[in-house]
Amino acid sequence: MTPGLRRQLEAVRAELERCPEGLVAHVRRVRAEALDLARIWDVDPVRTELAVWGHDLFRAHSPSAQLRLARETGLPVVAADEASPVLLHGPLAAHVLRERFRVIDEEALAAVRDHTLGAPTMPLLAKIVLLADKVETRKRDRDPALRPIRRLARRDLDLALLCWADWKWVHERERRWLGHPAHWQARLAWVREHHTEAALPPIRPEAALLPASENT
Ligand SMILES: [Fe+2]
Ligand SMILES: [Fe+2]
Repeated sequence: MTPGLRRQLEAVRAELERCPEGLVAHVRRVRAEALDLARIWDVDPVRTELAVWGHDLFRAHSPSAQLRLARETGLPVVAADEASPVLLHGPLAAHVLRERFRVIDEEALAAVRDHTLGAPTMPLLAKIVLLADKVETRKRDRDPALRPIRRLARRDLDLALLCWADWKWVHERERRWLGHPAHWQARLAWVREHHTEAALPPIRPEAALLPASENT
């Protein structure tokens, strides 16, 4: 770990701690969750913290400010973002971490950018931050369906992501919310990958694996 990374982390944390109290409390809960997952999956805790403290830097901005800033910084804005500008807060934060805080850790930047919608391929750090953000203690108290997803993240991050995407799908359909095409693309990729894994050649009956002499 470089001293530069530690300095970036402290600067980003100081910036986030200027946000409203409720948001700071959420980020502290995400930190606890993410550091636990980082330990299990052997990911550097300082890089994890950097992404965690950075992920919601623009979460408390108004929708009109999120939309304006995204346009000013040249981020792609699609109809789903215009309908729900809060979805831009991850990409906005990643942009500012790179430009203002000089973060060059591409995996930390991807973790910040994609923590709301996911992406077809994600580094380990991004999977950890997304899941920690979704299953932090307050959110799972509010919706107990998130608890098994949290447990699963300790065994299989990809399957936990897929289960979260299913949870999100149901959650959005029940409320008649429109999904975001970027999330749908990510979800399709995760489903494809899961099915490819599940379609490995079937395990042969145990007897067929024995040497011919014993197989009589
Ligand atoms: Fe967020
Ligand atoms: Fe968050």
